[in-house]
Amino acid sequence: MNIHHIGYLVKKIERAKQSFLKLGYALEQDVVYDDYRKVDICFLTKDGYRVELVSPKSEDSVVAHLIKQYRNAPYHLCYETEHFDEEKIELEANGFTCMGEPCPAPALGGRRVVFLMSPAIGIIELYEA
Ligand code: NI
Repeated sequence: MNIHHIGYLVKKIERAKQSFLKLGYALEQDVVYDDYRKVDICFLTKDGYRVELVSPKSEDSVVAHLIKQYRNAPYHLCYETEHFDEEKIELEANGFTCMGEPCPAPALGGRRVVFLMSPAIGIIELYEA
């Protein structure tokens, strides 16, 4: 598995995007609406790092409760793998709990992602390469 991006929760995605651009980040993908999770998403890069801005668009968004807890803050690391199903099973065997079924991510070319929770390190995302 390789680190693909750092997921960053934000309340106002356009304002957040502008702040990252002022820090010297380059816009990799402008804001896209993810209908599965009811969030706006965009990607920025700097120095080999990729940051994903995630902003809830409705009260039933999967991150609506998280933003109350985290406010504007990083909240997950995403790992890319060519062996999505095998890695998911192995992570589950190692104490990570799936937070839902894998589903396609429109902002990532429709490839599958799943979120898992670790009691020790919080949320991670698995992304099908
Ligand atoms: Ni992510």
